[in-house]
Amino acid sequence: MSQSEIQKDLMTRDRQVVWHPYSAMPNTLPVFPVVAARGVKLQLSNGTKLIDGMSSWWCAIHGYNHPDLNNALVSQLKKMSHVMFGGLTHEPAVELAELLVEISPSKIETVFFSDSGSVAVEVAMKMAVQYWAASGMSEKYKFLTIRNGYHGDTFGAMSVSDPVTGMHNLFSGVLANNFFAPQPCVRFYDDWDSKDVLAFQELLEKHHTEIAAVILEPIVQGAGGMWFYHPEYLKSVRQYCDNYNVLLITDEIATGFGRTGKLFACEYAGIEPDIMCLGKAMSGGYMSFAATLASRRVAEGVSTGGELPLMHGPTFMANPLACSVSLANIKLLRSWDWESKISELQKQMEQELAPCRSFTGIVSDVRVLGAIGVVELTAPVDMEQISHKFVERGVWIRPFGKLVYIMPPYIISSQELSTLTSAICETVQGLSR
Ligand SMILES: Cc1ncc(COP(=O)(O)O)c(C=O)c1O
Repeated sequence: MSQSEIQKDLMTRDRQVVWHPYSAMPNTLPVFPVVAARGVKLQLSNGTKLIDGMSSWWCAIHGYNHPDLNNALVSQLKKMSHVMFGGLTHEPAVELAELLVEISPSKIETVFFSDSGSVAVEVAMKMAVQYWAASGMSEKYKFLTIRNGYHGDTFGAMSVSDPVTGMHNLFSGVLANNFFAPQPCVRFYDDWDSKDVLAFQELLEKHHTEIAAVILEPIVQGAGGMWFYHPEYLKSVRQYCDNYNVLLITDEIATGFGRTGKLFACEYAGIEPDIMCLGKAMSGGYMSFAATLASRRVAEGVSTGGELPLMHGPTFMANPLACSVSLANIKLLRSWDWESKISELQKQMEQELAPCRSFTGIVSDVRVLGAIGVVELTAPVDMEQISHKFVERGVWIRPFGKLVYIMPPYIISSQELSTLTSAICETVQGLSR
């Protein structure tokens, strides 16, 4: 079979048996067969190389096939790829937990490992509910969050994701009822107006006796709209949580490990959560891996007061391969001046995406924070058409809805980043014709 026949055959077989994210079966949208990934480039089976603007959904911060990360995996593989975590422990898990505690806000002192971001959110929600039940306040089991958030696709996570984009209609009989404050309006760079957090405060005041925790994405709302809100909002949320005796869960699954320009986005507001979710970039994009971190107060509250300890224990909890590659990834991140690099990427994206602002009628907003660049359109894109256009230009950019955005690997060169930004500007401009 020729290369192109092999490629066609794979796509046909794919359509027969494989589900893709948020897709029909068979899939109606294009998929492109990848055979290799190195640095910031994905190689398709027809030999085309694409500059990756997505970091595989926020994960591959150091690019693909990095020697340090490869070595960490290979050397761990030779010792053991997996052992159950019930009744056993191992060096990679303990060392990683210690490192996470060291780099996270000072109040955070304990780590629960799991296999995906959604599960880390479920665990965080369980911790909060069990914490209050163990303190004799089992009526505090609901959650307060903000509109346009996204926390994952499992049922607990969906119940605190945006009611419209988070599929609440589809699962209305199954999902728990939680409280939603309006989306914060004051933007990251604008002057703060304390009225922005008023509705949130009113909800908390009214319902705090039923609320176990506030859960939100700090500063950057990702899949719910790529929105950057004001640090003072988050600061006020922390204050109100303290005033009303409610825990604060920050979901740093997308924002963690430098993406926003800080190691963790909560640093912009100078606040500390009670529970924190990490995932995605933690393993550098190598393995599905996540963690729920908690303060000593929460951990001890759950463990000592209740009838049962924390009721969660995934089969692949603290998988040694995932722990080892995450350790290598975090050590690598700490070994170079990533903060300066992110600030350079931010400046370059600000400059190079700015022309999109002049595409009246097509573009409604352009915003950049850290290594995240967003062009918001006035109407949803045609995914089929735009995917092919980007691939033809040698870039991998996957918009959703009205959002054309990039969050490239931190190691991207300025030339490669310009290829991404010019592909966006020219493709978006072309939408007007
Ligand atoms: C903020 C946030 N929380 C949770 C999740 C869910 O993570 P996962 O897809 O690993 O389950 C995501 C995924 O995009 C996310 O962005």
